[in-house]
Amino acid sequence: MKTLVAIGECMVEVAPAGADSYSLGYAGDTFNAAWASRVLLPASHAVRYVTAVGTDWVSDEMVAFMAQAGLDVSAVRRDPVRSVGLYAVRLVEGERSFAYWRSNSAATSLADDPSALALSLQGADIVLFSGITLAILSEAARETLFTALVEARRNGTRIAFDPNHRPRLWPSDTAARDTLTAFCRIVDCVLPSFSDEAALFGDASPSATAARFAELGVSEIVVKNGPDPALCVVDGVSKWIPARPVEHVLDTTGAGDAFNGAYLAGRLEGLDALAAVARGHQVAAVSVQTRGALIPTGSRLAHFIEAC
Ligand SMILES: Nc1ncnc2c1ncn2[C@@H]1O[C@H](COP(=O)(O)OP(=O)(O)OP(=O)(O)O)[C@@H](O)[C@H]1O
Ligand SMILES: [Mg+2]
Repeated sequence: MKTLVAIGECMVEVAPAGADSYSLGYAGDTFNAAWASRVLLPASHAVRYVTAVGTDWVSDEMVAFMAQAGLDVSAVRRDPVRSVGLYAVRLVEGERSFAYWRSNSAATSLADDPSALALSLQGADIVLFSGITLAILSEAARETLFTALVEARRNGTRIAFDPNHRPRLWPSDTAARDTLTAFCRIVDCVLPSFSDEAALFGDASPSATAARFAELGVSEIVVKNGPDPALCVVDGVSKWIPARPVEHVLDTTGAGDAFNGAYLAGRLEGLDALAAVARGHQVAAVSVQTRGALIPTGSRLAHFIEAC
């Protein structure tokens, strides 16, 4: 049995369900990836989600949803004061826009207890965290996470990181650049999207993005680029892997996260990086053809996988 651990924030999603109605769901970048890994991996492998939620019924329902999906929720921390963050989706003529209520959410306390955090990473084969995980944490909490990741890595865990830059979560571009770069120095695998990296670092091409991460010592680099080929660089060897062509793109929310979940599930199961990228593209293609941030399960997933 192998174990994948994802660390970050899951929010309540309020999305249009009809003319005048909304439905509640749950999403967040690392959670979406953990969900995809859980859906794809056999039950013999564990997928643990590390976060913090409140003690109210909304938090209880969120944790129940995770457990129902088969995720290991034993390391979900309960914050006695704060509750989970929330975002609302608006659809106007096919265009989605988002409004967030997430500042000071319970998840901002996910690294407040150093020994609990270290314990939550124990036995992990792969740990995934993201730039959003870092953006919501205080300086002190980031240091705790940094220490825990370094220690896990020393014990043989592979550390994977999606910088997922979201400008509004950072006080300045300089702060984002400094923090994301510092964490890149302690990871084995980065899974960035070229558009995020070009916006923050001014990279001229995916090759420039990959070169920057290689310079920081990252040995496994996958630069996603929407419908364009992903660039995979492992131990200095570069390959471009085309995305799956999709005729009707319905909703690209969470496509990068679905890619990450599928990629890491593939790596956990022993696929090489190139085969795992192909798996990532396939599952991300399903994500862009379905609404919401979580990939479908069961026969719906099988239907889409067959079709692309
Ligand atoms: N139009 C598309 N057609 C086919 N595949 C797509 C398309 N857009 C995205 N993808 C798939 O999704 C993957 C991730 O895309 P992208 O780089 O846009 O992610 P992202 O910006 O990280 O998304 P997010 O952070 O919102 O989840 C791509 O590598 C590709 O496999
Ligand atoms: Mg992304």
